[in-house]
Order: sequence, then structure tokens, then C-alpha cells
Amino acid sequence: MLYRWIRPVLWRLDAETAHLLAVALLRLIGAFAPLGWLLRRTCFRAAFDKRLEYELLGKRVLNPIGLAAGFDKNGEAIRGLQSLGFGFVEAGTVTPLGQPGNPRPRIFRLPKDEALINRLGFNNLGAAALRKRLSRGHVGVVGVNIGKNKDTPADEAGADYAQVFAEVAGVADYIVVNISSPNTPGLRRLQASDALRPLLERLLTLRAEGSAPSVPLLIKVAPDLSDEDFDEILTLALDLKLDGLVLANTTIAREELATPRAEVAEAGQGGLSGPPLRQRSLALLRRAAQRVQGRMVLISVGGIADADDVWQRLEAGADGIQLYTSLIYRGPGLPAKLSAGLMARLAAGGYASFSDYLTCRAERVAARSRLGSRPPAAAS
Ligand SMILES: Cc1cc2nc3c(=O)[nH]c(=O)nc-3n(C[C@H](O)[C@H](O)[C@H](O)COP(=O)(O)O)c2cc1C
Repeated sequence: MLYRWIRPVLWRLDAETAHLLAVALLRLIGAFAPLGWLLRRTCFRAAFDKRLEYELLGKRVLNPIGLAAGFDKNGEAIRGLQSLGFGFVEAGTVTPLGQPGNPRPRIFRLPKDEALINRLGFNNLGAAALRKRLSRGHVGVVGVNIGKNKDTPADEAGADYAQVFAEVAGVADYIVVNISSPNTPGLRRLQASDALRPLLERLLTLRAEGSAPSVPLLIKVAPDLSDEDFDEILTLALDLKLDGLVLANTTIAREELATPRAEVAEAGQGGLSGPPLRQRSLALLRRAAQRVQGRMVLISVGGIADADDVWQRLEAGADGIQLYTSLIYRGPGLPAKLSAGLMARLAAGGYASFSDYLTCRAERVAARSRLGSRPPAAAS
């Protein structure tokens, strides 16, 4: 409710300044423990319902509502974000060396679509700074999303990912290999199997040799892949026994927007996020769930804005969801609101807890696949 009053004031600022202010406020909340405690006990209480706790990627998380990468690139506001009720937070994208990203302005609001276009270009303080911050100790589950520096040529990208991985794997609860941002030239070409396989094998070897031997490794893909290319990634991920997929990053498509074309064109190049991504992200999740059959964790992200979206993704096979853009449009109460909506659906379905729901869902999937694999009855 309060956000309805605050938003117009915040929106007088350009999108990036408003973002920096939000991060500063969240840092403050994180630094002042009694305030975080109070928020958890009052406004955002619904997100801390014990019945929503479950295991994700081998860690106990508060609830399945995660914060997507890009909001807290340097891991500065993690405690504050956890006080809002995010079940897990993904820091990054972080690159080996700090870099400024693209020139400002580089984040644009499309209010008619509740969407954003950004071309930040991995602005961050670098892997060493993030490791230092996370190694001071963090509560809750924190993933780290890793990328390459803009100046690193494509054929040396593997070395960049390996360097960041070695730096941060020991302080992360999971690692996401970002090969899907549209704002680093050439990055998405790393999604092709002949580039992706050696890159991932290099990281898996590092992990096996002792750089954080148990840290789960996931990849984050673009929503603009063709079905064939996406299938190839799924095959590779299963073959390499990756721990999971994050589906998906922002899109370069500009279809079916309510925002007038001229306004969209004015924003220029970049990744589009928010509800215009919803259908494509859902389609990728369904395709992945069908192929993966529970062998990998699926984190669904893109256009999730209300409890119906959350439920739809869970029913489609997501093991957790993430959001970014809807937090900007709907405010800090959103994770708690989504948690409350999820609790209501669990109760209506007769589930004692979210874990109970996941067990029943797995049984349903197994029963369906047994039915599917049964030989057709002989014709009489
Ligand atoms: C301003 C902004 C910055 C982002 N930065 C990153 C990033 O650094 N790394 C990344 O993997 N995704 C990044 N993303 C993509 C989000 O993590 C997410 O995949 C995408 O926005 C779709 O989710 P949403 O519709 O809930 O926003 C960014 C998104 C936005 C809006």
C-alpha cells in the first residue's frame, strides 16, 4: 500500500538512480539488525512461514521466491533483501575485473507493460570485491552469477569464467554461468554447444579438483533461443550432469508491447524484462521439465508478478522462481505477498507444506511418465 505513495516520488528519479537509492536503503536495513528483525516479524512476516521452507540445491531455503541476478550485482544488500522475505538471492553478474558497464542512461521503464529495458553491460566491482564481502559471512542462501569482462575476446572467455569461479565458488551456495546477457557483445554465442561444452567442462574440472567441491553449477540461458538450440543445451546439461538451469535472461525481442513503438525505439538496445517475457519463459520451463524429468533443478524467471504466476511456474515444474522487474513495479512487499498467495494455494490443495506439495508433484510426474512409457494396449 505504502509503495503506491512512494513509487511516484521514486519515479521522478531516473531508473538507475532510483535503483541505487533502493540498494542503499536495503544496505541500511541490513546493517541495522533490529530494523531487519522488525520487518521480518511485521510487514513481511508471510514470507517466513515455516511451512514454506524446503531444500533447494542441497540448502535449506526460506521459500521458493528468489531475487534474480542483476539487482544486487556486488552483494551489498543481501541481508536487507532477505529481510523483505526473499528465499534466496542471486548476486552478480560479477566479472573477473571490475568494470563500469555501458554509458548511462542504460535502464528504461516501460510502465504500460510493467517492463524494463536495460543495457547495463555487467557494471560491477569485480570478483575479488564480491568474495571479500561474502566471506564476511552471510545468512540464508546466496547464489553468485558469473560472467566475462567486456574486453575479453570470445576465444578467451573460458579463462574469465574459470577465474571468477575459482574466486567466488567457496563463498557461494550455488554458481550460475551467465552466457545469456544481451548486453555483452558475443556473449550469447557461448550458448552454442561447441563453445559451451569446453567452458563448462573447465569449471566442472576446477570443481572436481577442489575449488568448492560441492558447489552446485547452473547455467542461465536466453529466451531468444530456437527450440532446436535450446534442446541442444538441455542435452549437454544432462550429459555433463549440471545441477540446474535458470530460465531465462532478458529478451532482445520487442513483440506485442503496449508501449508505443516510438517510445520503445527511444530506449534503444538492451534486454527487455517483465510481463512481456512471461509466455516465452513459461514455454522454456515446460520444454525443459518434459526433458529433464526431475534430474536437474529448474529455476524459472521472467515476467513473474503475482501469486498466479508463481503457482503456474510451480505446476509447470519449477523448483524455485526468481523475479526482478515486478519488484520495481510492485514494491518491497511483493515477496511476502507472493508467499502468502502460495500458502493459500497450498492450503486449498490440502498440502501441509511446500515440501509436501513438491513430493506430491514428483509422484504425479512419475505416475504420468509410467503411463506414458506403458506399451499401447493390443487392438482386439
Ligand atoms: C536492470 C536489470 C539488470 C539485470 N542484470 C542481470 C545480470 O547482471 N545478470 C543476469 O544474469 N541477469 C540480469 N538481469 C536479468 C534478470 O536476472 C532476469 O533474468 C530478467 O530480468 C527476467 O526476470 P524479470 O522479468 O522478473 O525481470 C537483469 C535484469 C534487469 C531488469
